[in-house]
Amino acid sequence: MLHRIERRDNLAALAAIPDRSVPLIYIDPPFNTGRAQRRTTLVTRRDPAGDRIGFGGHRYTSAASGSIAYPDTHDDYLAFLGPRLREGHRVLAADGSFYLHLDYRESHYAKVLMDDIFGRDRFMNQIVWAYDYGGRSRRRWPAKHDVILFYVKDPAAYVFDTGAVDREPYMAPGLVTAAKVARGKLPTDVWWHTIVSPTGREKTGYPTQKPVGVLRRIVAASSRPGDLVLDYFAGSGTTGAAALELGRRFHLVDSHPDAVATMVRRFAAVPGLTVSGTAD
Ligand SMILES: C[S@@+](CC[C@H](N)C(=O)[O-])C[C@H]1O[C@@H](n2cnc3c(N)ncnc32)[C@H](O)[C@@H]1O
Repeated sequence: MLHRIERRDNLAALAAIPDRSVPLIYIDPPFNTGRAQRRTTLVTRRDPAGDRIGFGGHRYTSAASGSIAYPDTHDDYLAFLGPRLREGHRVLAADGSFYLHLDYRESHYAKVLMDDIFGRDRFMNQIVWAYDYGGRSRRRWPAKHDVILFYVKDPAAYVFDTGAVDREPYMAPGLVTAAKVARGKLPTDVWWHTIVSPTGREKTGYPTQKPVGVLRRIVAASSRPGDLVLDYFAGSGTTGAAALELGRRFHLVDSHPDAVATMVRRFAAVPGLTVSGTAD
């Protein structure tokens, strides 16, 4: 296999991947599972013919008084994410790296979960991807960043090639030598990068598409040429685009037909591409 697009629920796709076989994983899960939850309310009253003995030794009956639907809570979100993170950890190579891209509202809950799965000492960075686009609240500081949690399987042996990473201009070029200004500086854990321009060439039309510049940096630093890069919440396939540019192989999984159609369009001309999966 050179490059692969797979339409499947990622839990099933991951189950088919051998242990410790993938050098780099990046995922950008949806903010929530998108499922409305329904909860039924029970009303209990005293009833001599009731089927339950309760408070004061009296008999009671319970009846459903109705149900309420409410949007997904973070508990449900972590229940969805947990098994998928555990599977990601299982398939990650012994010297592999895992990048988890999250909304700032969920990242701290997911960090605790990741510490549990990987071990706290496997946590390398919280990368802040800062952008500058869209409306500005006047009621609080406008939120203009995402969080990317970076973990490794083994802190004593992992791939990290800073020499392959694009460099940035110094903030105060007057304070460093001309040679340093010319070379630029190594990025820190705060990455300023514009979002995918709504009118630019990179745009695929997929709503949650991330910029290839962010993925390029991750792939360049945390994998070797020829390595396999896995994204099992692949969306428009941005991880694949970065992998391809940098001479890596990709495996992209998404359960949504629109995502798969977008990726097939994006990579139509790529030699050695396999597309598999099932219709709903
Ligand atoms: C935020 S988007 C990813 C966007 C992507 N990083 C990009 O640059 O285009 C999350 C994706 O996860 C997919 N997804 C959600 N649940 C999934 C599941 N259980 N299995 C596979 N894909 C899933 C959605 O269909 C969606 O395309």
